Amino acid sequence: MMDNKDLEAEIHPLKNEDRKSQENLGNRLKNEDNLKSTPPQTRLSRCRTVAFFLSLFTCLFVVFVVSFIIPCPDRPESQRMWRIDYNAAVTYDFLAMEDINRDRIQDVVFLYKNTNSTDNSNQSCADEGFSSPCAFVAAVSGANGSVLWERPVAQDVALVDCAVPRLSDGKSSACVLVGRPSSLTAVDLLTGETLWSQPSSFGGNASVLSPLLQVPDVDGDGAPDLLILTREATQVSGYIYSGSTGRQIGHRGSLGVDGDSGLLLHVTRTGAHYILLPCASSLCSFSVKGLYERVTGRESPFKRDPLWESMLNTSATRQLLHSSGAVRYLMSVPGKSGQDLLLVSSEACVLLDGQELTPRWTLGEVQVMRKPILGHYKPDTLAVVIENGTGTDRQILLLDLGSGAVLWSQALPSFPGGPPSASLPTADHRSAFLFWGLHELASTNEMEPRVAQHSLYMFHPTLPSVLLELVNISAHIIAFDALLFEPSRHAAYVLLTGPASPSVPGLVSVTKHKELLSNRGPMSLGMGAPPAPLPGAHLM
Ligand SMILES: *[C@@H]1O[C@H](CO)[C@@H](O)[C@H](O)[C@H]1NC(C)=O
Ligand SMILES: *[C@@H]1O[C@H](CO)[C@@H](O)[C@H](O)[C@H]1NC(C)=O
Ligand SMILES: *[C@@H]1O[C@H](CO)[C@@H](O)[C@H](O)[C@H]1NC(C)=O
Ligand SMILES: *[C@@H]1O[C@H](CO)[C@@H](O)[C@H](O)[C@H]1NC(C)=O
Ligand SMILES: *[C@@H]1O[C@H](CO)[C@@H](O)[C@H](O)[C@H]1NC(C)=O
Ligand SMILES: *[C@@H]1O[C@H](CO)[C@@H](O)[C@H](O)[C@H]1NC(C)=O
Ligand SMILES: *[C@@H]1O[C@H](CO)[C@@H](O)[C@H](O)[C@H]1NC(C)=O
Repeated sequence: MMDNKDLEAEIHPLKNEDRKSQENLGNRLKNEDNLKSTPPQTRLSRCRTVAFFLSLFTCLFVVFVVSFIIPCPDRPESQRMWRIDYNAAVTYDFLAMEDINRDRIQDVVFLYKNTNSTDNSNQSCADEGFSSPCAFVAAVSGANGSVLWERPVAQDVALVDCAVPRLSDGKSSACVLVGRPSSLTAVDLLTGETLWSQPSSFGGNASVLSPLLQVPDVDGDGAPDLLILTREATQVSGYIYSGSTGRQIGHRGSLGVDGDSGLLLHVTRTGAHYILLPCASSLCSFSVKGLYERVTGRESPFKRDPLWESMLNTSATRQLLHSSGAVRYLMSVPGKSGQDLLLVSSEACVLLDGQELTPRWTLGEVQVMRKPILGHYKPDTLAVVIENGTGTDRQILLLDLGSGAVLWSQALPSFPGGPPSASLPTADHRSAFLFWGLHELASTNEMEPRVAQHSLYMFHPTLPSVLLELVNISAHIIAFDALLFEPSRHAAYVLLTGPASPSVPGLVSVTKHKELLSNRGPMSLGMGAPPAPLPGAHLM
């Protein structure tokens, strides 16, 4: 009897309460009673059903009203592709991305040299005191390619960095341009207004070494300061400028070494700042403290690292270590405890401990002619992309950053000096990799002029045997970058094409192509994962 009741209660849980009240009324527990009381209960459950469906319909109605009648907040419409042309111009190997118009879509900043700007700008070279042609900075909307601002900034540009934080709010940033001849200008990235402009004091024959370095505030105004190294004859000199006014701090300070572009500012684990510079087949270094004291003659707030000083003390030419072959690239990479150093020489690729400078791994027998890039081959594990060889002998290698093991390799012929590779974060915490290679020329007709075609290929670690051809292009590519224009929504690549020679003006184009990889399973894009700030993203 009890079992029977429980079972029924389970089947009709809503009836349980009624049943209990009946039990209380009189203990005439007979199955027939239950049967007799059925009609009022059915009516009650019908009422409940009606009430249930009524409230359900009300809910649905409200949902429909909210979703269709009340409009969603406007999202800026992003075009799949846009293009902006300058007819008689030359351009520079530089692209920077930043949300300038605050529509939460990354915008594109680039440089060109033109006699006239487009109709968007009413300013000419003469307005800024330059002779024609002069260099312009332009910012275009990432959503539709409309020009946000453009202005003449220098006669010619030697170096640019668009990631210099501004003093006033710390949020917006500035582009600092080292002009030729002798100017140093900062432009507000959001408005294009000149923040300051100063003549630079480099010697007439000095070449400016890239990139521009930012050092912590030394003049006490709250803004990071700028460090520029130049090379004249075989001497490298350093100059420090205030980041908020552009005024030079102290005077020129000679480093007493020779060196090349590809500078890196490294902070040791003891918190000491060192300038690293490739000098032939060595890595040379100079402490920022030493340079500051040399240019100002005053005590500085910086530190020296005893271990590094003893390494440098043994060498008259400030060499930290010897490498096999000429040092070509230096990169700061995340290590287990602080930043490590990836050193690429003409014969090997070495990961150095960021403090002891001892090799963690070495990959020999590689000829790397292009700065490596970082990405994720395995989820959340950094990998380095290097290109072994150039031209038709080029091979792409993906190395595990922790061990140096080759994870993937692919022969991919290219033109010497073809565009660099890129990587994009994907939703599975890996990266999609983009490589440029030679397009297989279908036409073997010797009479036809052979058009050089670059093809862009995409690779994703989930399909290691697939190299997807995305597009092919015959124009001369000056700069290329791929990025998430909106976090988790829309990845695209930007191409800057123009004349190969800076002395022959021609068609300069900036194009954005929306990537094909969104909504494709593992290739869908990372939720809110911003593109990792890879070192050296802003140098020329
Ligand atoms: C530049 O503008 C001037 C007049 O404003 C015009 O005569 C000239 O043809 C233009 N040059 C180019 C290359 O568009
Ligand atoms: C350019 O146009 C803006 C307004 O659109 C105006 O404020 C500015 O003075 C003009 N500049 C020149 C050089 O004509
Ligand atoms: C381009 O987009 C911006 C907003 O991002 C908008 O203000 C502008 O009107 C658009 N221009 C064109 C030509 O669609
Ligand atoms: C630049 O170099 C040339 C020869 O190499 C020399 O004649 C000239 O004086 C140098 N100029 C400066 C400013 O040092
Ligand atoms: C480096 O050498 C200088 C003299 O040449 C000496 O004064 C200094 O103490 C040395 N520093 C270290 C860390 O050995
Ligand atoms: C790099 O390329 C050279 C020449 O093609 C080849 O001999 C060497 O084995 C390659 N290195 C690696 C690590 O694959
Ligand atoms: C590459 O170029 C060829 C010839 O110009 C064209 O037929 C082909 O569709 C292009 N491929 C892609 C992926 O754009």
